Amino acid sequence: MWYEYGMHHDEVIPILDFGSQYSQLIARRVREKGVYSELVRPDISIAELRKLNPKGLILSGGPSSVYEPNAPKCDPGIFDLGVPVLGICYGMQLGAHLLGGEVKPAKAREFGRAKLKVIGHDPLTKGLPDETTVWMSHGDQVHDLPEHFVALATTPTCPYAAAKHKTRPFYGVQFHPEVTHTPRGETIFENFLYEICKCAGTWTMGNFIEQSVQRVRDQVGQAKVICGLSGGVDSSVVAALLHKAIGDQLVCIFVDNGLLRKNERDLVETTFRDHFKINLITNDATEPFLRELSGITEPQQKRKIIGREFIEVFKREAELIEGAKFLAQGTLYPDVIESGHGYAGTAANIKLHHNVGGLPEELGFELVEPLRELFKDEVRRVGEMLGLPENIVWRHPFPGPGLAVRILGDVTPERLRVLRDADEIVLEELVTHNLYRKTAQVFAVLLPIGTVGVMGDARSYDSVIAIRAVESQDFMTADWARIPFDILATMSNRIINEVRGVNRVVYDISSKPPATIEWE
Ligand code: XMP
Repeated sequence: MWYEYGMHHDEVIPILDFGSQYSQLIARRVREKGVYSELVRPDISIAELRKLNPKGLILSGGPSSVYEPNAPKCDPGIFDLGVPVLGICYGMQLGAHLLGGEVKPAKAREFGRAKLKVIGHDPLTKGLPDETTVWMSHGDQVHDLPEHFVALATTPTCPYAAAKHKTRPFYGVQFHPEVTHTPRGETIFENFLYEICKCAGTWTMGNFIEQSVQRVRDQVGQAKVICGLSGGVDSSVVAALLHKAIGDQLVCIFVDNGLLRKNERDLVETTFRDHFKINLITNDATEPFLRELSGITEPQQKRKIIGREFIEVFKREAELIEGAKFLAQGTLYPDVIESGHGYAGTAANIKLHHNVGGLPEELGFELVEPLRELFKDEVRRVGEMLGLPENIVWRHPFPGPGLAVRILGDVTPERLRVLRDADEIVLEELVTHNLYRKTAQVFAVLLPIGTVGVMGDARSYDSVIAIRAVESQDFMTADWARIPFDILATMSNRIINEVRGVNRVVYDISSKPPATIEWE
C-alpha cells in the first residue's frame, strides 16, 4: 500500500457505511461540494477515526432496524470526537437511539416523495424554501426524541424528518438528501460541510493532480513504469497522469488483439504517441488471437482464450523493458470498495468483474494505482484537465474481449469486417445526432444466423445485425435507450446499403436484468 486512506487529505468526511445502496452516492455528493469523503467500516475504532482527523462524520442509511439483534452499530464515542455528525435515515435512527431517543416502526413503510416543511432557522436548513420535496425510504422512524432534541423539519407522516441535538453536534435527516429525487439535497450537504463543519473545500481535481503527481514521483523514483493502455477512459487517464509525473520513465503497451473497433488503434496511437509524445509500444497480435479463437463459439471459452493470450503477449513485451519495476493500473474507488480492500464492505453487493485485462501478480511488478480514490466522474474531469480529447474522456466502455463477444458464433476476419463496418455506422449516427453522451453504451452485434432478403431482382441470404443501445448509471442495471425511430431508420438503411453481407437490422429492446448488456 503506497498510502493510507484519508491520511494525506487535509479535509476528510468519513462516511460510516451501514450498508445503504446509496452510501457511495453520499461520498460523491460530498466530493462534488469540494470535500474529500470516503466510506469506512461502521465499527471503525475511535482511535482509527482520530487518525483520519475528520472535519465531520456522516452515518449512512442501511437496510436494518436499530432494534434488530445484529443491526450494525458504531462506537458511541463518535459523539465525543468534537466534530459534527450527520445521520441519514438509519444513521439518524442509530444516532438518536445512541443518544437516548426512541425509534419505532412507522405506521406505514414510507417510500417515495414527501413534502418537507422546514421549521424555524438552522444552519442545516439554511437557504431551503419553506416547503420542498424529499425522498423517503424507510420502515422505522424516530418516534420520540428526548428533550435534548429539536425538530428542524417535518413531513405529513414524519414529525422529525430533520432534527438536531440541542447540545451535542448531532444532526439527523430521515430522508435521503443524496438522491436526485431530493432536489435541494445538495443544499443540505453544502450547509453541513460549510456552515456546520466549517470546511474550506480543498478537494478539487486540480489539487488532486498536483498531489498525485508528487506521490507517483515519490513512489517510483527513477524506475520505469509500465502501463497497459487499452484506449478506455481509465487506462488513458492513468497514462496521461503518469506522463505528467514521470515523462519518459513511462512506457505504455497497447496490445492490438485484432478484436478492436474500426480506427481504434489509430485513435490510441495518434492521441498518445503523436499528441502526448508518450513512449508507446503497439503489439499487433491479431494473428495469434484469431488463430486461437478459430472455431470457438462458446462465450466463456472465448473470454478465457483472450485473457490468456493477452497476458502472454503483455508479459513478453513487458520483459523487454529494462529497468521496469512498476505496473500502472486504472483501479477506481468503487473497485477498491467492492473488492473489500477498503474500510467498507458491509454492502452485500460484491461485484464480480469480468476483468479479462487483469494481470497476474507473478509478473513481479509493484502496482501504481493513481486513480484508486476517484469515482468515474472525477476520473473524467482529471482526463479533461490533462488535455485528453473528448472522444477518449467520454468513451463508452468496451469489453476486454472486444468484438469477439459481439460476434455470436465463430470469429473470422470476414465477420470482423462486417461487424466493424456496421458498428462504425451506428456510432457515427449516434454522434451526429448528439446522442453519444446521453447513452451509456451503444454498439452493433453480429448474429450467427442467415436471413432471406431481396436485393434488386435476386433473393439474398445474408447476415443480421442487432443494434444494442442502453442507458445506465452503473452497468449493473440498464434500460434500453429510446433512440428515435428516424435515427434507427438511418442506421438501418446505411448498414444495409453500405455493409456488404448484411440484409437485416434489428433493435434490441431488452432491459438488464434479465438481459445482459452484451449478447455473449
Ligand atoms: P453485461 O453484458 O454483463 O455487461 O451486462 C456489463 C458491462 O461489462 C462489460 N463487459 C465486459 N467487460 N470483459 C470486460 O472487460 C468482459 O468479458 C465483459 N463482458 C461484459 C459490458 O461491456 C458492460 O459495460
